[in-house]
Amino acid sequence: MASEKPQDLMVTCTAPVNIAVIKYWGKRDEALILPINSSLSVTLHQDQLKTTTTVAISKDFTEDRIWLNGREEDVGQPRLQACLRETRRSWELRAQTPESQLCLLGNLVSHKVGRTLQAELCSTLTLAPASVSPAVPSAYALAQAYGVEGDLSEVARQGSGSACRSLYGGFVEWQMGEQADGKDSIARQIAPEWHWPQLRVLILVVSADKKQTGSTVGMQTSVKTSALLKFRAESVVPERMKEMTRCIQEQDFQGFAQLTMKDSNQFHATCLDTFPPISYLNDTSRRIIQLVHRFNTHHGQTKVAYTFDAGPNAVIFTLEDTVAEFVAAVRHSFPPAANGDKFLKGLQVAPVLLSDELKAALAVEPSPGGVQYIIATQVGPGPQVLDNTHDHLLGPDGLPPRDL
Ligand code: PMV
Repeated sequence: MASEKPQDLMVTCTAPVNIAVIKYWGKRDEALILPINSSLSVTLHQDQLKTTTTVAISKDFTEDRIWLNGREEDVGQPRLQACLRETRRSWELRAQTPESQLCLLGNLVSHKVGRTLQAELCSTLTLAPASVSPAVPSAYALAQAYGVEGDLSEVARQGSGSACRSLYGGFVEWQMGEQADGKDSIARQIAPEWHWPQLRVLILVVSADKKQTGSTVGMQTSVKTSALLKFRAESVVPERMKEMTRCIQEQDFQGFAQLTMKDSNQFHATCLDTFPPISYLNDTSRRIIQLVHRFNTHHGQTKVAYTFDAGPNAVIFTLEDTVAEFVAAVRHSFPPAANGDKFLKGLQVAPVLLSDELKAALAVEPSPGGVQYIIATQVGPGPQVLDNTHDHLLGPDGLPPRDL
């Protein structure tokens, strides 16, 4: 009976979502997931957005299985397979002798040399709208379960390239590297999560629908057809990486905000330069861009910045003292449809009244319901291992509870 199946090892981890301020777009090696340029991101706090993954490993499992948000999914998905394969490869490389294998896997005493243990994964996504990097790695949980130590960038990249930046909290760069084997293409923290305590992040959810052109196919077409992308990767990003690092280290919000917007705009320009063109922004996204610029012009300084990934949702950066006024400006421009009280999720934001001058400066024709809701969050830490067995998403039989 399944319920009598002994569990040899179970690990539950949470991993954060990251948002790039210098964007990654384009691979130079499709198999190893190596990028054509370095990128830099901010790790968002797990109090608002996170993935939780439980990995169970047992000598009794006969196959790999995966559940996502309570539903069993196809374990043959290429990215998941690559993640599992890379984790096991790292583990096998470190475990050449029976003794070291036993040592790595602790209580798996009956494990035989050369046999690949099967893993069961159960993952759940908290509050993540579809286009905010949903593929945060199971790599960390798998690595914990398999006892793989050291740099996990190589494994995490297999889930989704940009996900390797979620291995750390705070501000993280993914160095493109130069080596053909990708060993120097790694994620590295440039400043910890407590470095810039005033920084705030607002996710403006415009549409939670699945994106039309997935990032894998989009990147391939851009690499093949966009001369602007080649120019960006070779001649623009290297300087921007240095400048963005300086802005973060010196907490230069004006510089950080302007470069964030310019880099998002250039990424979307390369999408338009792709043939056939790709467009991820919609009318609401463009209205948000206009709102941010008018808000900044009114204040005579850059107080708010936007960035967009491969979808229409906006991610806004601002400082603590500006959050309430900007949220009020969003409410004014995009009056909530039916869910007024659920419009703002996450961190508390005190309601404020907009001045008549600011309302006039925004000069918007209100678009009711254009922004579905806002998630207010901040910079946060990297993946965490949960110690409490109550946090496991898999029951003692290795299956997810029915009500997950
Ligand atoms: O890692 P992927 O394949 O999900 O691509 C992500 C690409 C962007 O989100 C658009 C930019 C980035 O650096 O996160």
